[in-house]
Amino acid sequence: MTAIRSVVLGCGSYLPQQILTNAELAARVDTSDEWIVQRTGIRQRHIAAEGEFTSHLAINAARDALANAGIDAQSIDLIVLATSTPDNTFPATAVAVQNGLGINHGAAFDLQAVCSGFIFALATADNFLRSGAFKRALVIGAETFSRILDWSDRGTCVLFGDGAGAVVLDAQVQPGKPTDRGILTTHLRSDGRHKSKLYVDGGPSSTRTVGYLRMEGREVFKHAVGMITDVIVDAFEATGTTADDIDWFIPHQANKRIIDASAHKLHIAPQKVVLTVDLHGNTSAASIPLALAVAVKDGRVKKGDLVLLEAMGGGFTWGSALLRW
Ligand code: UT7
Repeated sequence: MTAIRSVVLGCGSYLPQQILTNAELAARVDTSDEWIVQRTGIRQRHIAAEGEFTSHLAINAARDALANAGIDAQSIDLIVLATSTPDNTFPATAVAVQNGLGINHGAAFDLQAVCSGFIFALATADNFLRSGAFKRALVIGAETFSRILDWSDRGTCVLFGDGAGAVVLDAQVQPGKPTDRGILTTHLRSDGRHKSKLYVDGGPSSTRTVGYLRMEGREVFKHAVGMITDVIVDAFEATGTTADDIDWFIPHQANKRIIDASAHKLHIAPQKVVLTVDLHGNTSAASIPLALAVAVKDGRVKKGDLVLLEAMGGGFTWGSALLRW
């Protein structure tokens, strides 16, 4: 029996021009290049320019994805934008992106699941496409975390950066087999008992301010590997696949140690892991499509490859997606 699948037509990314190195950060707070590299794998992050908003980053990434897919913006009828750093409290940054791309049909909305945002957005768009409600979606992760960092807190300011990534999904009829192209399965989880371990200490309804990111890093680290591996096992079980079948593992880029430990626990070979955290730090919802765009553009990810995505972040939220390129 045939099935409608969300097939990836292309992907794109954008990083702001300004680079902030570990050495530059060490001149501002009590840290060192050695500590940051050893504990996280991060070497640099990109910082949005004054007047450069999340929507601008998202539009650039979306244009790159549309070009990579070889399609016109007018064929898009759904935009799902994952962000925790919107331009404004409302309207959704997605409508600024829609307007910037010259699209005025279909629907555009934001989705907030912090670092898991891209997986949640991908799953949401996939469900809309498979239901027949929309035909072609832009799924974007875009963040300007530099705007919510406490630059005097060495425990957080060295970790995060700005950036955006996007994919174009197209609803296509496939044979309905495990060898189908497109998204094969998605698994989303949340557990609000952990909501105070990674949060922003402000908001329109609570403080009427934007607030700053606060994190109990060690606590997040403690839960990360277990949560990540649980939803990946769910993806394997749902599709009858194993770690050996995976061509590329493209995880949320927060910390190299978390990525290495997750891959090791799942028996995913190190050469299958796409790692870009060194280049841009933790860009929250943008990190997976940023890494994906690198691996697609350098020729590693090819048509027919089985690609495993995962993320874990504030909430806690966590999720996985398994797709055939
Ligand atoms: O996207 C999902 C959300 N975020 C994450 O996935 C982050 C998860 N957590 C982590 O990646 C790690 O916990 C961190 C990178 C944040 C911290 O690494 P850690 O190995 O867990 O270090 P720690 O928090 O246990 O701190 C070790 C030491 C402490 O000093 P003492 O108490 O041992 O004297 C910290 O005060 O390192 C100190 N420290 C630093 N030293 C130099 C904390 N931040 C820094 C820093 N530079 N930037």
